[in-house]
Amino acid sequence: MGTPHPVGAMEELRRELDGDLAGAGDLKSLDEVRIKYLGKKGLIKELLGRIKDLPAEDRPAFAAGANALRDAAEAGIERRRAALALREKEASFRATAVDVTLPGDRVPPGSLHPLTSTERVLLEVMQSLGFRAVYGPEVETEYYNFEALNIPRHHPARDMQDTFYLAEGVVLRTHTTSVQARVLARRETPVKVVSLGRVYRNETVDPQHVAMFHQFEGIWVDQGLTFAHLKGLLAYLARRLYGAERRLRFKPKYYPYTEPSVGLDVSCSVCDGTGCPACSAGWVTVLGAGMVHRNVFREFGYDPERVQGIAFGLGTSRMAAQRFGIDRLRVLYDNDLRVLAQL
Ligand code: DAH
Repeated sequence: MGTPHPVGAMEELRRELDGDLAGAGDLKSLDEVRIKYLGKKGLIKELLGRIKDLPAEDRPAFAAGANALRDAAEAGIERRRAALALREKEASFRATAVDVTLPGDRVPPGSLHPLTSTERVLLEVMQSLGFRAVYGPEVETEYYNFEALNIPRHHPARDMQDTFYLAEGVVLRTHTTSVQARVLARRETPVKVVSLGRVYRNETVDPQHVAMFHQFEGIWVDQGLTFAHLKGLLAYLARRLYGAERRLRFKPKYYPYTEPSVGLDVSCSVCDGTGCPACSAGWVTVLGAGMVHRNVFREFGYDPERVQGIAFGLGTSRMAAQRFGIDRLRVLYDNDLRVLAQL
């Protein structure tokens, strides 16, 4: 039959286009439709190429019809593209949708570690008395840890504390008292500071002994301070920490950096002072203290006739264990959340 008449072919093409558009189910097949009709070698190009076969008088109408078909193809493809794009977007939203009505994961609130909470209480009490917190290094010189505190190299007092030596003259501090020496080295008066942090002893580790633990320390230097100030300060601190109903007892002690030196005991909270496995005959020792030794003052150029100092130190770890009813110091440092969460 030969090629169909161009006008007939045009109508045919329009129907085919409508069918192809309706059948394009995604953007990729729609693009194939575009190439089929509007591409360089597409069907509409080919249709326009046939104008020359027509009688001259039919050509303008045919050309107008072909152009209209091209416009219709462009508009139709664009409409379909928009519809398909929307559909694909919706599908992807649905696939990645989050159900905001689901109950969600509960994040349990954390709490302070017993050591942190004990340090905060101590700091709060001391700051209310006008003491300021200062911090010193954990890697310390033998000088600040020992010599400056009236503990000479071969003095038997060094045996009180088993020390980690890192290098000649360098130790892990065995007590926070080293910070007192650093503060005194500034030669200021008055001094009213507390210090706290980790200290280290070369201990055989067992449930009661750890090689790293925490201490808290205070020093007050001024003119006219007496042993009565020391007792008053410590009694106030103990009452704030342990409550007014506990009895207090001062006993003589020896520390090379204080003279006289005292220990402070509080009556045992478990047996109320009658004696039990948690205490020694009804008493628990909670801190060591004393009047700053004149040799320590002299070391830093203070005149011990003109200034006096009171100083105390305590084991934050031991105190935390007492406050939280922990019977083994190790528990504080194992950081087992199953245990800590119960405190
Ligand atoms: N440094 C002592 C210890 O580690 C505690 C102590 C005692 C600190 C008397 C002081 C003090 O400041 O004056 O056991």
